[in-house]
Order: sequence, then C-alpha cells, then structure tokens
Amino acid sequence: MKRFLMCDPKFFEVCYVINPWMEGNLGKVNKELAKQQWQNLHNIVAGLAPVSLIEPVAGLPDMVFTANAGLVRGKEVIVSSFRHAERQPEAKFFEKFFSSQGYTVQHLQKETIFEGAGDALFDTRGRLWVGSGIRSEPRSMDEIMAVLDVEAHGLELVDPHWYHLDTAFCPLPEGQVIAYEKAFARTSVAALDDEFGASIIWVSEPDAKNFACNAISIDQRVIMHRASAELKFALAQRGFEVIEADVSEFIKAGGACKCLTLKI
Ligand code: ARG
Repeated sequence: MKRFLMCDPKFFEVCYVINPWMEGNLGKVNKELAKQQWQNLHNIVAGLAPVSLIEPVAGLPDMVFTANAGLVRGKEVIVSSFRHAERQPEAKFFEKFFSSQGYTVQHLQKETIFEGAGDALFDTRGRLWVGSGIRSEPRSMDEIMAVLDVEAHGLELVDPHWYHLDTAFCPLPEGQVIAYEKAFARTSVAALDDEFGASIIWVSEPDAKNFACNAISIDQRVIMHRASAELKFALAQRGFEVIEADVSEFIKAGGACKCLTLKI
C-alpha cells in the first residue's frame, strides 16, 4: 500500500516571499492553528493510508511541503533541486531520509531545476505529467524520462499563482482529473483536453483559489482545503467523496493539502 510522507510544522512560518501567496504574509502564520490544521490533515490521511514522518529542520520553514522533496517511483527517487536559495538546503535532508529508507537516490543534471512531485505527477495510467515554466525547467522532463524510463508529457504553467503543477492539476483514479484552465498555456489546455476529454473536471476560479486542485487522492476519497457545492457535486457524480481539511495557515505560504504530503 502507498504510504505518505509528512513533516511536522514545528518550524513552519512565512519568512520570505517566493510565490505570490506569500506576499503580505510575512510573520503572519498562526503557529498554534497551523499545528492543529496539520495534525487534523495528518489524522485524516493516517486513517486511510500509512504515514511516515521526516524530522523538521530549524530554518527550513517550507520543509512541511514534502511534495517538493522529490519524485518517487517504487523504491527510486529523483531528489529535487530547488529554484530558490531559501529552499535549496532542504534537498540534502530529504536525500538523507530517502537513503536511510532504502531508496535508490537519483539526481538530474547539476544545473537542472526540478521541484519533485510539486511539478511531476503520475496519472493512474502510469503516465507522468511534468509542469514547467515557473519552478521546474522544461528540460527536467527529458532528463526524468531518461532516468526513470517513463512516458512523460509536459505542461506549461503560465501564472505565478499556479507555480507548481500540483496547484492546478490533480489526477484521480480511472483516468479522471481535476484541473484549473487559467494556470496553463493554451497548448497545454489542448493537450489535457485531448488526453482526458470529458474526464476532466475544470474547476472554477474560486475553487482554484481555495486550492481545490491541490488535493490528496486516496481511492474514492479526495482530500482538499475547501470545495464548492458545485465541485462536490461533480466529484460525487463520478463516485468521489470530498473530505475538507482546512489548511488556511499553509495557504499563506502558497501550499495546501497535497503539498503537505508526498506519496512514497
Ligand atoms: N512556499 C512554498 C514554495 O513556494 C510552497 C510550496 C508548495 N508546494 C507545492 N507542491 N505546491 O515553494
């Protein structure tokens, strides 16, 4: 069974700005509330699947967003190489964790920026979707294909609010997906339409802003910060149940439910 990696928010805070959500939120995290929200999310996930924890590190406030640790496939992981200096030191701690757990650790080329499962998501048919344009670089996709020997498709992100693919795209079982159109270049919207057709649930702007695409998919459950009645209905029609987990404090840093976890 798939396991999820999470990191306690002991050192979580907004103390630099590397995406538009963080602007105006410096020092504004309610730490007590963040701790409660994270614990609640942890309990929900742990009720559905095993959860492993990585030790948080002082001075690395975004380490809670374990989605960015790397891209995992089986017992192999491509460890991230972060765009921003503020997050770069996280990589060695994630690498240490994966080595200690018996994973084969891989790296892309030295200069290639790649932010892990934030920007690379497998659909349920085993195809990898790689987002680039804001954080990860387009060439990361070619390198991933070579390292993991997988079929991959690139998606171009165009709006800094949707800087990681997982803020705007969430594969669900049976070829279904949730996505937010305005995050993507027109050619990428066309590619998604081609590949997924009527199986895409395009979310509204208010749902996108509530990080509805940043959802954790476990069988028929979809865990997200908040969903409109319309989105809940669309998902219910396809056999999915929405579980809401308020993560308002983490949205101040530009991340929500899915970013706080990594499937390992
Ligand atoms: N503050 C973090 C950053 O900008 C948030 C990361 C959210 N992670 C994600 N996978 N979307 O890097």
